[in-house]
Amino acid sequence: MRIGRIGVFDSGFGGLTVLRELLATLPDYDYVFLGDSARAPYGARSFEVIHDFALECIEALFGMGCPLVVLACNTATARALRTIQQRYLPVRRPDLRVLGVVRPSAEALAGLPPGAIPGVTPPAMAEGTVAVLGTAGTIASDSYRIELSHLAPRLRVVQQACPLWVPLVEAGELDGPGTDFFVHRYLDPLFAPGDPPARILLACTHYPALLPRIRAAVPGGVELISQASVMAERLADWLVRHPEMETRLSRRGTREFLTTDDPDWFSEAGGRLLGQALEARRIRILPVAYP
Ligand code: DGL
Repeated sequence: MRIGRIGVFDSGFGGLTVLRELLATLPDYDYVFLGDSARAPYGARSFEVIHDFALECIEALFGMGCPLVVLACNTATARALRTIQQRYLPVRRPDLRVLGVVRPSAEALAGLPPGAIPGVTPPAMAEGTVAVLGTAGTIASDSYRIELSHLAPRLRVVQQACPLWVPLVEAGELDGPGTDFFVHRYLDPLFAPGDPPARILLACTHYPALLPRIRAAVPGGVELISQASVMAERLADWLVRHPEMETRLSRRGTREFLTTDDPDWFSEAGGRLLGQALEARRIRILPVAYP
């Protein structure tokens, strides 16, 4: 029976950039977005803490009737997804699914179609240099380099942590000389003499909020890859390949927005990223008793 909504999670409201594209590509489904703004940013936190926070939010979404949760957060995906998929779900929630952003984004960066399986799908022959920009946690996890070493072994992957970009976005500081200073601080080293990247993946769902400033700071001809459109295209494909989940998802076109912090602030700042007005409600997140 079609009774489930799609849960979309981010540490804050950056994941609304992904939800925006999901709504454009897959508008009929019902969605619940949860932003853990009270505990954002996650980027510089330890592996264990990010894992626990992400698991608690995923469980909150499961509890609200979401059989499928999309982690619209690179930090949570890079730090927690594998453990949750391999150790938690099979034991506690074998009929529910959690999908992340790293694999689909790495496939897109490698120029591969959706659903590539390392070791089975022939690797991409893509060459040259690509850059991955993310939070300190995402870059420290090395997740993108590891995925890409299997998917496109000839690609040279340069990674750059941009620890101040999420705080700037969460604070609504999207332009001005202070923001430009930090935009250049992380981008300029990529274009020092040597082998500059031809493509840059914005591997944090907050970063599209800085896109005009990022675009202005990189040389013309460099391709900026948006995770939001990648996720929408690849989730649509995933649902076609997983009818056992697709047939459980309800299609009344409803949307619900939840935050762990002030709902008025979340609605105002989040509405700008979503591109439409939203009304958020505050919820409390409960600890998950799990060893
Ligand atoms: N939007 C999150 C991501 O994609 C931001 C993580 C954070 O809270 O630092 O990584």
